Formats: sequence, C-alpha cells, structure tokens
Amino acid sequence: MKVLFYMTHPDAAEWLHDFARALPEAELREWQPGDTAPADFAVVWRPPREMLAGRDDLRAILNLGAGVDAILGLEHAHPGTLPRNAQLIRLEDSGMALQMAEYVTHTVLRYLRRFDEYQTLQGERRWHVLEPHPRDTFTVGVLGLGVLGSHVAKALASFGLPVRGYSRGARQIDGITTFAGDTQFDAFLDGVKVLVNLLPHTPDTSDVLNTRTFSKLARGAYLINVARGGHLVEQDLLDALASGQLTAATLDVFREEPLPADHLFWREPRITITPHVSALTLRSESVEQVACKIKALMRGDTVGGVVNLERGY
Ligand code: NAP
Ligand code: GLV
Repeated sequence: MKVLFYMTHPDAAEWLHDFARALPEAELREWQPGDTAPADFAVVWRPPREMLAGRDDLRAILNLGAGVDAILGLEHAHPGTLPRNAQLIRLEDSGMALQMAEYVTHTVLRYLRRFDEYQTLQGERRWHVLEPHPRDTFTVGVLGLGVLGSHVAKALASFGLPVRGYSRGARQIDGITTFAGDTQFDAFLDGVKVLVNLLPHTPDTSDVLNTRTFSKLARGAYLINVARGGHLVEQDLLDALASGQLTAATLDVFREEPLPADHLFWREPRITITPHVSALTLRSESVEQVACKIKALMRGDTVGGVVNLERGY
C-alpha cells in the first residue's frame, strides 16, 4: 500500500518516522509539488489543492485534526478537488478531548471565581473581596455535543454547574440539559452565562457567534471560542463587550492565524488570547489512530470519523 504524507510542521520528520514504524508494510512518502505517482491513502494536515486534485486513485484522506474545514474549503473554492471515491476521515479525540476539557474548565472556573478581576486588582495593588457569582445561575452552554463538546460538557457538570448542550440531532447526556436544531437554538441560549463554542465550521455554523446570539445570553455573559475563527463575527464581539452584554471572552481561534499584530483584539483587556492550542494534535495517539484506521480499511473494515460531505463534518 502507498501512503502520501503532508504537513507543514516543525516536527514533520518525526511524524513521518513514527508513521513508518506504525505502518512498516506501507510505502510511505512525503508529498512534494509535482508528485502525481500512485497512492492509496493520504495523511494530511492543511494540504495544498495540488496534492489532492485529480488523485482518483486515493481510497481515503486521513486528516491529522478534528476539523476538516480547511480541506472542504478547497473543494468549496475549486469544486472537483476532492478525489471522487476517497473517504475523508478525521481524528476522533486522540487526546484532544482531555486537553479541551482542561482548557474550557480552567476558563469557566477563572470567570466563576473572578480570577480575571482579581488579576486586574493585583495590578492595582488592591486588596478587595468580590461578591462570588452564584453557582446555580452560572449556566454554561456548550455549542456542539460531538466528541469534544460532550466531553467538555460532562467535565463542567462535575463541578456542579448547570450545563446545557446544543447539537444538530437530539442527544441525551446524563447531567446535561440538551437542545437540538434551529427551533431550539434560542431556548438553549436563553440566560446562558458562559457560551462555549465547539461546533465544526460549516456553511450552517459560520458567523454563529454574532450580535443576535449574544443578545439571548444572560446580561454580562462570557464567551469561549475554541472551535474556529470563522464562527465569530469579530465586530459583534467588540460591540457586545462595549455595551456590557458580554463581560469577557477567551479566544483560541481566529479568522486570520496568526492573529495580526495590529488586530484590535490584542488591545482589548477583556479578551484573553491563546494561539490555537486548546487541543493539540498529539503525535503518538494520532499516529496510532490513523495507522489503525488504514489497516482496518486495508482489511475492508469500516472505521469511525468518516466525514459526511453534505453536512461538512
Ligand atoms: P464532532 O464530533 O463532529 O461534533 C460536532 C458537533 O457539532 C456535533 O454534536 C454536531 O451535532 C454539532 N453540529 C454540527 N453542525 C451543527 C449545526 N448546524 N447545528 C447544531 N449542531 C451542529 O466534532 P469534534 O471532534 O467535537 O470537534 C469540534 C470542532 O472543534 C472541530 O470541528 C474543530 O473545528 C474544533 N477543534 C478545535 C481545536 C483547537 O485546538 N482549537 C482542536 C480540535 C478541534 P450532531 O451531534 O447532531 O451531529
Ligand atoms: C484543530 O484545530 C483540529 O481541528 O484538530
């Protein structure tokens, strides 16, 4: 079996080395521009269009991340890019769910316990006790109840916080109040104190974090965006902070990454910025998962994480 590999990552050589060990029977090669030689599988992160276009020999494209928006974006911009018969398969968890739960729980607790405000007070050398937020109305709403969102929602519920979750189809998760579909969106948002976004970025979810959405939350709510920058209407966030509808936001993802040095978000003290690190693709877990899936496909078995191209996730 022939496996093509592409990622622009400082550790790409180590990844290739680990894949070679996990798939000793494979002819593995790093894709270079102009390489159109036959291949059965492509293992990729943010591949260029030229790597995939016209490759009708591919059986599957295995994405080294949970989100497939970059690959589907190629198809959207240049229809026919994706090989006709290849399945698109994404990473499922592979160590990301725990990292995401750490990041989001840390951030929610920071706001619940007002550590953001104590940090400001410390800067002013002020010893001042703030009234605690009541836990029973500190409702957290998690947009997206997939592999990552459901894990995050359960982690938050373990702190005794009221947690709601929102998905496309109806879901039942112990300890979480669930909502599904467009008709229940406003009921999900109503009175939420912390909105966490873990939706995939698709045409249906683009710009979902906007003025209308913010207006349905509790006054002075918080936003945590750990999914994609394209979910957020940036000016609407700045307006919501200015009006007091939102108190603060923590953002891990941006429309343009790296976030440009002159972007207004850097100058807004109520916005906390991290450089797309809430859940990193871990090498050993990811190599193992992808290698297992390739072996299963070679045996003719079905695998998890196959993307529904119509839905875009
Ligand atoms: P997933 O398992 O595919 O879950 C997606 C969830 O979103 C599902 O619950 C799905 O509903 C829901 N959904 C999708 N479209 C919807 C719509 N139009 N309306 C309502 N609900 C909708 O994805 P995942 O593995 O949890 O990952 C989620 C996203 O996190 C990725 O796509 C990626 O963009 C982002 N991510 C970010 C980082 C980072 O470091 N910042 C790392 C990893 C992933 P159903 O359950 O009904 O299908
Ligand atoms: C990272 O953002 C991913 O989608 O895995």
